[in-house]
Amino acid sequence: MADIYFLNNQYLKLEDAKVSINDRGFQFGDSVYEVIRSYRGKLFHLDMHLKRFESSADKLEIPIPYSQRKLRDKVGEAYLKSEYAEAKIYLQLTRGTSERGHVYPSGLIPTFLITVLELRPFPTELKEKGVEIISIPDIRWGRCDIKSTNLLANVLAQQKARREGVYEAVMIRNGKVTEGSISNFFLVKQARVLTPPLNHDILPGVTRDLVLKIARDLKITVQEEMISEKEIYDADEVFLSGTTVEIVPVVRIDGRQIGNGLPGLMTKRLIKEFQIYTKIA
Ligand code: PDD
Repeated sequence: MADIYFLNNQYLKLEDAKVSINDRGFQFGDSVYEVIRSYRGKLFHLDMHLKRFESSADKLEIPIPYSQRKLRDKVGEAYLKSEYAEAKIYLQLTRGTSERGHVYPSGLIPTFLITVLELRPFPTELKEKGVEIISIPDIRWGRCDIKSTNLLANVLAQQKARREGVYEAVMIRNGKVTEGSISNFFLVKQARVLTPPLNHDILPGVTRDLVLKIARDLKITVQEEMISEKEIYDADEVFLSGTTVEIVPVVRIDGRQIGNGLPGLMTKRLIKEFQIYTKIA
C-alpha cells in the first residue's frame, strides 16, 4: 500500500511531484479541485464527483485534459495502485503555466493532479457525542458553487474554529446560513429536515445530495429553503455533511445548546441509514 501522486500524466514520488512557480493555480488560485473517498476498496459515487469536477472546470473554462471516460479510468487506476481500502482521492486542475498576468493567454496546457492518501476515519466518539461549532460572517466570493482552490475564507474560518476549540464554522450571509467552511449545513425542526437551497452561495455537496435522497426515500419531509441565523439556535437538531465525515451531529452553536445537547433521533437515524447506504451503493 502506498500514497499515490499522479501529476501531468506521470506517476511520481512526492518529492518529484512539482509545479512551476508560474502555475496559475499557485499564482492566482486559478484552479478547481475535487475530493472523493472509497469504502472497502470501491470508489464512492465517483460519477457524481466527476460531474461536479467537470462542472467546476466548465464554469471557469478550464479544459480537462482527458475525455470523460479517460478521466474516470485515470482516477480508478490511481486508486487501485494505492491498494488502500479506505482512501481519500484528491483531484486538482489548474489553468496551466504562463508568465504572471491576470489575463490568461489561450492554449495553456492545464496542470492536472491526482493524489491518493489513506483516509483517517472521522472519530466515532465525536459522531456519538456530537460536535460544537461557531457561526461567522460569510466573506467568500459570489460563486461558492464552483469548487475552486480559492479557499482563503474557508481556511480562516477553519483556523478560527480550531482556535476556539470547536469543529466547524458555519457561515452567515445577509442573515441567512450558507454552509460550513468544509461541510453543508442541515437542521431538523418538528421532524422536517431543512437545508439551504442550491445557488451560487453554496457548494452542491455530494453528501448533501445523498442525505436528501436517503431522507426522501424514508418518507421524511425535506425542505431546501433559506434558514435564518436565528433559526439555527431554535433547531431541534443540527448536523453537517461532507464526503470524508459523512454526517456529523452538532450539539452546540456559539456556546448555545441545540435541542437537549445530544445528537438527535433524526440525525442518528440518518447516520445509520447513510452507513447502510455506503455498503450497497
Ligand atoms: N470539502 N461545502 C464546502 C465549502 C466544502 O468544502 C465541502 C467539502 C462540502 C461538502 O461537500 P461533499 O459532500 O461533496 O464533500 C460543502 C472537501 C471535503 C474539502 O475541501 O476537503
